[in-house]
Amino acid sequence: MRIVVGITGGIAAYKAPELVRLLKKAGHEVRCAATEHALEFVTRVTLETVSGAPLYSDLFASGHTEHISLKDWGEILVVAPATANIIGKVASGVADDALSTLLLAFSGKPVIMAPAMNCEMWAHPAVQRNIETLKGWGIRMVGPEEGELACGVNGMGRMAEPEQIVAAICQGEMSKMKGEKWLVTAGPTYERIDSVRFISNYSSGKMGFALAEVLAEQGAEVELVTGPTHLNVSANQHINLHRVESAREMYAAATEVFPSCKGAILSAAVADYRPSECADHKLKKNGSEGMHLDLVQNPDILATLGGMKTSGQTLVGFALETDNEEANAQRKLEKKNLDYIVLNSLRDKGAGFGVDTNKVTIIGRDGSRKESPLMSKQEVAKLIIKTVTS
Ligand code: PMT
Repeated sequence: MRIVVGITGGIAAYKAPELVRLLKKAGHEVRCAATEHALEFVTRVTLETVSGAPLYSDLFASGHTEHISLKDWGEILVVAPATANIIGKVASGVADDALSTLLLAFSGKPVIMAPAMNCEMWAHPAVQRNIETLKGWGIRMVGPEEGELACGVNGMGRMAEPEQIVAAICQGEMSKMKGEKWLVTAGPTYERIDSVRFISNYSSGKMGFALAEVLAEQGAEVELVTGPTHLNVSANQHINLHRVESAREMYAAATEVFPSCKGAILSAAVADYRPSECADHKLKKNGSEGMHLDLVQNPDILATLGGMKTSGQTLVGFALETDNEEANAQRKLEKKNLDYIVLNSLRDKGAGFGVDTNKVTIIGRDGSRKESPLMSKQEVAKLIIKTVTS
């Protein structure tokens, strides 16, 4: 995740570099925003060194819309420590410095605060009223804790430890899609010719498994319907694996679970055709004669779900193209009644079948368009899920 850590002027600001270090260690990207008073307790050099990014602390120093750029960049804003002053400012809608301005701009995105102050200040009705106001707006409080305070007394007001704040951030991420069920299709399908042969394609299932794992990491229950693949899902993830072989089996499994799902992402490379008959024995060569296979069309799973879709559901299809990519993807988006289509082209090196990477363009029904660079299929999955759920 891209996390903005806001630091205000309390003695607990000395713990902020440790919080940033832990977040970076957990694989997150971090940028810091500090008030002028915070920089009395912790230095700019320290914060820039641990975060590896420039500090935002002056409304006018780095362009007057930096608070908006940082809001667009960040996925979550964590204020630690949060003084009574910043809590009061946000509750009253005051934006008179870099951090308070950023906090107002951040509305609509998750905000966590770790309050820290003297126990009498914490108990003050104005502070308690402000805390309730912020909680009512969905701002999550971590702590404060009871213990020895900087002023020497024991009481409520100590900032939660950086490890607790990190845990709260991860929990928030986990609960983003909690209670939502998503359907994902993955892999190829096998269409039997006889008892030993089949028609198929080169799909490995990697793209679909990455999507299922990212959805599960974000708290969703996933129904993963996959064609034949050697891949497996890691233990203890909320993924219900349905292994199928043919397009018709995939169709039956997907149409059964879709009505109970919040959304579906269909990344499987489903065979459009199957042999009209499947011999129950191994077909023998017939002298030097050629052989004709009669093919019939398979049901289109994505188009069927497009017809079943109700207003609260999100339906995402993939388009694997070799030419006229955008026009073909756009046509599928409309014809199959999709909300988004993820286009990948076999003309892009490192994209598509079998490889660990992909390069996609996500096209929305609303005309939106997002292009990714070549990235790991996990990163592509994160981008797709973020786009189709926000
Ligand atoms: O599995 P990997 O090796 O990781 O490779 C990933 C991938 C290349 C398979 C994946 O990124 C991808 O592009 N999947 C879609 C491939 C495909 O069959 O595209 P299509 O343009 O033929 O189909 C369009 C959409 O309709 C797809 O969402 C497909 O799942 C769906 N479809 C197609 C036919 C059919 N009978 N039923 C369907 O649901």
